[in-house]
Amino acid sequence: MATITFKNVVKSYDGVNNVIPGLDLEIKDREFIILVGPSGCGKSTILRMIAGLEEVTSGDLFIADKRVNDVAPKDRDIAMVFQSYALYPHMTVYKNMAFGLSLRKMPKEDIDRKVTQVAKILDIEKYLKRKPKALSGGQRQRVALGRAMVREPSVFLLDEPLSNLDAKLRTEMRSQITQLHNDLQATFIYVTHDQTEAMTMADRIVVLKDGIVNQIDTPQNLYNHPCNMFVAGFIGSPQMNFINAKIIAADGKLYASFSDYKIPLLERMCDPLKEYIDKDVVIGIRPENFHSEKFYFKEDESNKIELFTNIVEMMGSELNLYGEIDGNKIVAKVPSNPNIKLNSNVSLAINTEKIHIFDKDTQNVICD
Ligand SMILES: Nc1ncnc2c1ncn2[C@@H]1O[C@H](COP(=O)(O)OP(=O)(O)O)[C@@H](O)[C@H]1O
Ligand SMILES: [Mg+2]
Repeated sequence: MATITFKNVVKSYDGVNNVIPGLDLEIKDREFIILVGPSGCGKSTILRMIAGLEEVTSGDLFIADKRVNDVAPKDRDIAMVFQSYALYPHMTVYKNMAFGLSLRKMPKEDIDRKVTQVAKILDIEKYLKRKPKALSGGQRQRVALGRAMVREPSVFLLDEPLSNLDAKLRTEMRSQITQLHNDLQATFIYVTHDQTEAMTMADRIVVLKDGIVNQIDTPQNLYNHPCNMFVAGFIGSPQMNFINAKIIAADGKLYASFSDYKIPLLERMCDPLKEYIDKDVVIGIRPENFHSEKFYFKEDESNKIELFTNIVEMMGSELNLYGEIDGNKIVAKVPSNPNIKLNSNVSLAINTEKIHIFDKDTQNVICD
């Protein structure tokens, strides 16, 4: 069992500013949890506190059911993999992987069996006699992972482990790490700033801002139901479009009004929006919820807008169209189509099922 629980954990480095102002978080046994958030929001600090490399300023940190605030790193049954790999340059790959085990006085034959077995899984057997400098970035990262794996910890902490690798290798390692998690039956806590890693690998994603948890949920729920504009803008690429609009009521229905448009809103939004009639809100529309195909336009064209294309990005099967509506920057993702041209007006249909509405002041979601 390796649940990890933060109870009102505060971290301050200088005794004045709280980098983590009060964290409550429960990570389940064998969960793959990913921490995301802007640079400096406290992701590494959280990992380092779990590892015991940073002291907890106040509050309680539990691993399994044991309070570990004062437990030494070596007694925590965890292993950490860093972005920088942190391999010993003068040791061979074999020694790098074996080192931690020999410190623990494991018999030589057992060490040999473990290292060989893990090297096989990670496909680095043929490099065991090399020094790290004779390896590529991807191979070094596998050694760093291997060094953690031979210890068979119940918790793996991974701090941006793939960010030094090129795109192709990152994709490969992504599925390898997911596979490892499935095989090892350990708890994984993984930090990344990469959208795709977070969305594809995590059981749950924790979105942090200034050391504060904004939302914790499955990738799907975060994407479909972000709790505020920060999470909405952070998850998804290109990011969600935000348009300043006013809620208006007419003939028993509600509309989002902006520029010359009056977009009809779903009936289910009437109740949550009743206090916002004639008030300013922000509506959020993901790029893929603008459509260029006929099928999506309502008969009365009430969900139709025109976008003048400043930039057209050819993505292969899709186009990203950039423009502006009422001073709000817009990006729409539509299927590739030779009739769509740069510097021209494109008619787009908004999928009204997929509109998010946010309070302009609190930036919290009102309904979606
Ligand atoms: N050893 C340290 N001493 C003082 N401040 C630190 C130290 N490590 C990190 N910080 C500060 O704590 C904040 C969070 O840092 P960090 O946890 O590294 O963020 P992230 O990993 O999300 O980029 C930042 O403002 C950073 O400058
Ligand atoms: Mg960091």
